[in-house]
Amino acid sequence: MTGFTAADVPDQSGRTFLVTGANTGLGFEVAKVLAARGGRVLLGCRDEDRARGAMARIADEVPGADLAFVPLDQADLASVAGAAERVMAEPRLDGLINNAGVMMTPLWRTAQGFELQFGVNHLGTFALTGLLLPKLAEAGGGRVVMTASLAHKRGRIDWDDLAATRKYDRYARYSQSKLANLLFTLELDRRLRAAGSAVTAYACHPGISTTELGRNLPALVKPLFQLSGGFTNPPAAGAWPALQAATDPAAIPGEYYGPQGLFEIRGPSGAAKRKPWAREAGAARRLWEISATMTGIDPGLAPA
Ligand SMILES: NC(=O)c1ccc[n+]([C@@H]2O[C@H](COP(=O)([O-])OP(=O)(O)OC[C@H]3O[C@@H](n4cnc5c(N)ncnc54)[C@H](OP(=O)(O)O)[C@@H]3O)[C@@H](O)[C@H]2O)c1
Repeated sequence: MTGFTAADVPDQSGRTFLVTGANTGLGFEVAKVLAARGGRVLLGCRDEDRARGAMARIADEVPGADLAFVPLDQADLASVAGAAERVMAEPRLDGLINNAGVMMTPLWRTAQGFELQFGVNHLGTFALTGLLLPKLAEAGGGRVVMTASLAHKRGRIDWDDLAATRKYDRYARYSQSKLANLLFTLELDRRLRAAGSAVTAYACHPGISTTELGRNLPALVKPLFQLSGGFTNPPAAGAWPALQAATDPAAIPGEYYGPQGLFEIRGPSGAAKRKPWAREAGAARRLWEISATMTGIDPGLAPA
């Protein structure tokens, strides 16, 4: 099977990347490869001990790796603003790999009271991206990468109850958040193009990869996710679509990358399929406007 793998990541010397949720799972693998190719990697994580543990593991495998910890809790917009401020102080930013995420949690809420999956997976990503666009532009063509999921295929945006005050289905809310990642990519790509920006936006998904993502699943369901490891994408391979989106010179802005194997679950990375409702321009624009209102962050790009 052909496609993009870690072996295809070009030299990244002189470039700086922020990888969110880089202390474990897919984010850790992305950070490790970028560091191994000579990039400076900022690990945006909410737990300093876990972040420093990951940095030590990367440094073991990549002697001389250029790494830094950036405190980032996407469940708190104040923390997102603090992380952005920290990154603005870097000499440059070439890539923002929005990877941090939670899956199918109980009904929990962010510091601002948003339903957690929508709040962390989408609104935190929207806010961080909006705040860092100027920095990415300074680098003369930085990339934004959104990590979506096969789960977007079952996704619907609950426009009337984004806060989940009336009902809560943890599976539907995860799918909604991952559909939101694709709609945000669509709208960001359109607005960046319309503005003539050198910054570009991409989406990716890892197929299915046995990471810590299943940690909040109900006890009866959790073993299924853990046992699926035999036929899914090892985390190192699950990182390939994000690496392609972030570094492939041939990557197409606005494109969605994912595994090319059976049922899109595993294998080398290439163009991925998205459902028609992930391409709805009206929904993408509406989501952008609502997200700007909810977060109080205006990424400063006019509608296309
Ligand atoms: N694994 C899959 O099969 C799969 C499939 C489709 C899409 N994805 C997507 O891939 C991304 C990475 O998932 P993964 O599989 O690597 O899961 P993971 O092993 O659970 O890693 C998730 C990462 O996100 C971080 N995170 C969670 N909440 C956060 C918050 N409030 N602020 C900052 N960071 C936070 C976690 O930090 P802590 O360790 O501190 O909690 C961790 O570093 C997610 O967006 C997920 O939706 C995964």
